[in-house]
Amino acid sequence: MPQRILVLLAHPVRRRSRANSALTAAARQVEGVRLHDLYEAYPDFLIDVEAEQALLLEHDVIVFQHPVYWYSSPAILKEWLDLVLEHGFAFGREGTALAGKALLSAVTAGGAEAAYGPEGMNCHSLEEFLRPFEATARLCRMRWLPPFILHGTYLLEQPALERHAAEYAALLRNLRDAVEA
Ligand SMILES: Cc1cc2nc3c(=O)[nH]c(=O)nc-3n(C[C@H](O)[C@H](O)[C@H](O)COP(=O)(O)O)c2cc1C
Repeated sequence: MPQRILVLLAHPVRRRSRANSALTAAARQVEGVRLHDLYEAYPDFLIDVEAEQALLLEHDVIVFQHPVYWYSSPAILKEWLDLVLEHGFAFGREGTALAGKALLSAVTAGGAEAAYGPEGMNCHSLEEFLRPFEATARLCRMRWLPPFILHGTYLLEQPALERHAAEYAALLRNLRDAVEA
């Protein structure tokens, strides 16, 4: 049985996006991947919690795809986390709805990889900045997958961008086809 993949896209200005547009276009080519654009669905931030929880239940692998904004995610993903991952649903003694599902962060960052090294201006790696998402996965008894990170978006030429987008599609295909993603 293929793993069912839900990509939750959080980008507030899609028409200006290069990196996430390329990743999204690549993800759309992967059969069995459902793409859900949070800013498009909820321009007023009024998230339909029941609908979002139902979507989660229908999928095995959840992907948070977004640009890195202020070392974290754009605001709607935080709002989504705050409202959708309710006690008794996602965590707590009775909250086992997401147990065993996998969580993947797929992020793009303006900063180059070197800027996220110990000697770089950000001092910490992006994996470190993603720790709150990793901890969220753990609290929800989900499996945290190694994140997909696209660094240095400002300087990325189109061919390189397309190569990374193809790698993202390949990762999604592998997750879909894995016995257990
Ligand atoms: C509000 C804002 C905050 C940002 N914060 C960061 C940051 O903390 N670290 C970083 O590496 N890049 C940061 N960037 C750069 C974005 O990550 C980069 O432009 C984005 O990943 C490119 O993807 P896109 O072409 O899909 O917009 C920020 C950009 C904006 C607009």
